[in-house]
Amino acid sequence: MDNKITIVSGTNRQDSLSGIVSKIYADILQSFGITANVIDLQALPENFIHTSLYDNAGKNADFNIIRKEMTQANKFVFIVPEYNGSFPGVLKTFIDGLIFPDTFKNKKCALVGISSGIQGGVLAISHLTDIFNYCGMHVLALKLKFSHINKYIQNEQITNDLYMGLMKEQAEKLISF
Ligand SMILES: Cc1cc2nc3c(=O)[nH]c(=O)nc-3n(C[C@H](O)[C@H](O)[C@H](O)COP(=O)(O)O)c2cc1C
Repeated sequence: MDNKITIVSGTNRQDSLSGIVSKIYADILQSFGITANVIDLQALPENFIHTSLYDNAGKNADFNIIRKEMTQANKFVFIVPEYNGSFPGVLKTFIDGLIFPDTFKNKKCALVGISSGIQGGVLAISHLTDIFNYCGMHVLALKLKFSHINKYIQNEQITNDLYMGLMKEQAEKLISF
């Protein structure tokens, strides 16, 4: 059993609901005795696109800290907002900036899709599953899709009992995955 899980909040939008859901997920994992660390893409270095990718890979000291953390982690949770019917472009750019294939190969993750619309990020997490499988990562079969998430977040808490129950169920499954 791993006793540490890294949560990635999949957007760099300020004050995102993904960030709030990530913190709630971290609390759930901690209640199960797991140390959970959140990497919020909001904290990516400002100039990351120009200084951290392709020929510049490994050259941005601030991004290298995140890159190393992603390489050392064994299990992940990705909180994935639905942007234009898929996952945010910044999340793909982030993945493109990580070390291939070591970051994800033979590792495990769980996915949570969220949206203000009706789909709950179902396509977003489906698209992401293809990418992670390509990178050699195993994706937990229980994938969560939370539609109308904006209606169910109040005071940084999720008010929907079904959503909370599903996150706890997924967290338990991920811990023993
Ligand atoms: C660029 C962008 C595109 C979006 N596209 C969709 C979409 O396709 N479907 C949807 O239901 N919501 C869409 N939304 C709204 C998000 O679902 C909403 O912001 C939600 O709170 C989750 O994202 P957040 O973590 O950025 O808060 C979009 C938001 C942004 C900023």
